[in-house]
Amino acid sequence: MMTKYSIAVIGGDGTGPEVTKEGIKVLEAVGKKYNISFQFDYFNFGGTRYLKTGQTISTEEINELRKYKAVLLGAIGHPDVKPGILEKGILLRLRFELDQYINLRPVKLYPGIETPIKDKGPKDIDFVVVRENTEGLYAGAGGVLKKDTPDEVAIQESINTRKGVERCIRYTFEYAKANGRKKVTLVGKTNVLTFAFDLWQRAFNDVAKEYPEIETNYAHVDATTMWFVKNPEWFDVIVTDNMFGDIITDLGAMIQGGMGVAAGGNINPVGTSMFEPIGGSAPKYTGLNVINPIAAIMATQMMLDYLGEKKAALAVEKAVIKVIEKMDSMSAGKMGYSTTEIGDIVAKFIE
Ligand code: IPM
Ligand code: MN
Repeated sequence: MMTKYSIAVIGGDGTGPEVTKEGIKVLEAVGKKYNISFQFDYFNFGGTRYLKTGQTISTEEINELRKYKAVLLGAIGHPDVKPGILEKGILLRLRFELDQYINLRPVKLYPGIETPIKDKGPKDIDFVVVRENTEGLYAGAGGVLKKDTPDEVAIQESINTRKGVERCIRYTFEYAKANGRKKVTLVGKTNVLTFAFDLWQRAFNDVAKEYPEIETNYAHVDATTMWFVKNPEWFDVIVTDNMFGDIITDLGAMIQGGMGVAAGGNINPVGTSMFEPIGGSAPKYTGLNVINPIAAIMATQMMLDYLGEKKAALAVEKAVIKVIEKMDSMSAGKMGYSTTEIGDIVAKFIE
């Protein structure tokens, strides 16, 4: 029986459309093999449209996206648009309005990829960060007083609701259980942020009781950055708030080989989820066919896994592992292949 999925595609800015194209190529190849048919519907959001029309994204457009279970996103970000407009107007707006309360970011070093961490290899670097994706410092609470005067005051508050925190922690334990992971570490700052992380710690302890088979642990966020470098093998699954998750996953991306390989999922388990390479729009490489599409391809792998197409997801991962062995580097322009060639080879390995 043929399974059918409608996927919304937001190529976005810069190299975003180029890498999503390779992701789609791979989805089509894997679909052929496993009898899955995809319909791709394209949405033209991003900096280019914003510069032309002044429109980031409309409520109608967001409502249109609600009809999809999955969105494939390239990159949002344009050098000619002031920082904050596209981030808040498109990316964060989608995460919030679609209630994608999980940002799932695997940190896995594949064989043949260089890590800047001396003496560590694929068996040491294999963990997942679950970042809360709708609250914390990102909620936009606060304000400014007496702007542009010597008495200016800026307040930016971290919002942590019991409900929001608990659902994120529960998702994390469920994820660990479903994926054979053994340990969940709460990353926070209980020694200083004594209101927010006290709530996190209590919610964590309460939810953990429902999963006696999973080991639990706590680490301060500053120490975590140290351990990502010194002892990455200590981590299995991490759960943390929005801001800390943002910061530590950039470090995570670097130790797994860089932005060329790191993918993530913005997940609403009962709504519309969105999968993306976590790197930016890389404007200086636009149109040159040199950007690494592996991260975008891995975003489709995460999407397949999320949709329950486990065999297809595994096939993509295996093909990616084989392609990586042939690549010279994960950096744009130094891969030994062009962007489109990488997509072609992954697709061929799947067949
Ligand atoms: C990310 C990005 C975004 C974030 C920016 C672009 C708003 O850094 O996805 O990690 O801070 O969440
Ligand atoms: Mn980030």
